[in-house]
Amino acid sequence: MIFLVLFFLLPIVLSSSIYRPVVLMHGITSNADAMNDVAKWIRSTYPGIYVISIEIGDGKEDSYLLPLDIQVEKFCQTVRSNENLDQGFNLVGYSQGSIIVRGAVERCSLPVFNLITLSGIHQGTFGIPYLLQLPIELRDLITKYAYETPVQNAVSVANYWRDPEQLIKYDSNCHFLPDINNEHETRNEFYRQNMINLNAFVMTYSDIDEIIMPRQSGLFMGYTNSSLEIETYNNSRQFTEDLIGLRTLKEQGKLFTFTAHVRHQDVTHEPNKDFIMKNIMPFFNNTLSL
Ligand SMILES: *[C@@H]1O[C@H](CO)[C@@H](O)[C@H](O)[C@H]1NC(C)=O
Ligand SMILES: *[C@@H]1O[C@H](CO)[C@@H](O)[C@H](O)[C@H]1NC(C)=O
Ligand SMILES: *[C@@H]1O[C@H](CO)[C@@H](O)[C@H](O)[C@H]1NC(C)=O
Repeated sequence: MIFLVLFFLLPIVLSSSIYRPVVLMHGITSNADAMNDVAKWIRSTYPGIYVISIEIGDGKEDSYLLPLDIQVEKFCQTVRSNENLDQGFNLVGYSQGSIIVRGAVERCSLPVFNLITLSGIHQGTFGIPYLLQLPIELRDLITKYAYETPVQNAVSVANYWRDPEQLIKYDSNCHFLPDINNEHETRNEFYRQNMINLNAFVMTYSDIDEIIMPRQSGLFMGYTNSSLEIETYNNSRQFTEDLIGLRTLKEQGKLFTFTAHVRHQDVTHEPNKDFIMKNIMPFFNNTLSL
């Protein structure tokens, strides 16, 4: 009897497939727990799925005190040392986490299937509201000295502060964003290839986001040179020059954008639950075959 059960079940077990794991990366001044609600929704939609929320160092403080070059390196180390992720995974980054996860894909060639960025900061941020999340003594450092090396090395926000009046300084002195955005004179084809290798790249923003300026940074649009006008698909170098492969991804039908309608949520994502369930959840409906 037992033999019969094994005989029929074993082939099923051996040939079964499991949902691709999901890795979550939180935003600034928060920690891994801030993604618990999202993790819970994914687990209840896809029973048995492996979901892990990553924290870099002591999440809350290190999220703004560690330069993003180091955060990306630590993120890659954590992921590579987790054997559950060896076969590949889907990756989600929220707010500041959006550029940590994209940096990790570009620099570390992680085996990511779908890369999902929620309320991203792809084209940086510039403006006081975002800084209000930081301790008061750090705010002036950013508004006055963002492109000085000691500040670049001390506050994560300096690494993606994109002042439209100082784009030349941004390009030469900002340590992180111009690099992963491939804005330097010498392009990094490796970064671009790693983006093009994705199955899907998903970007979202909220049309009432009160923290990220411009909020369209979530869709990879920043301020144009010397103004507070916002780039469009047609006048952004990212698209016209295909710096990291956005245009190629779009042409291949692998670029997805969604507009949410919710205030910025660094602690709980509950108010955005319907949006996430409807638009984002389908990107986790894929399996690894064992
Ligand atoms: C921005 O415009 C100014 C004035 O036209 C020009 O000198 C500068 O080179 C431009 N900067 C960039 C990064 O294109
Ligand atoms: C902008 O680009 C889109 C393609 O995404 C194209 O359909 C449209 O005609 C362009 N608009 C202008 C004003 O060039
Ligand atoms: C996942 O995809 C399968 C196959 O297309 C579909 O039957 C199933 O309903 C989807 N699951 C969810 C939770 O959407």
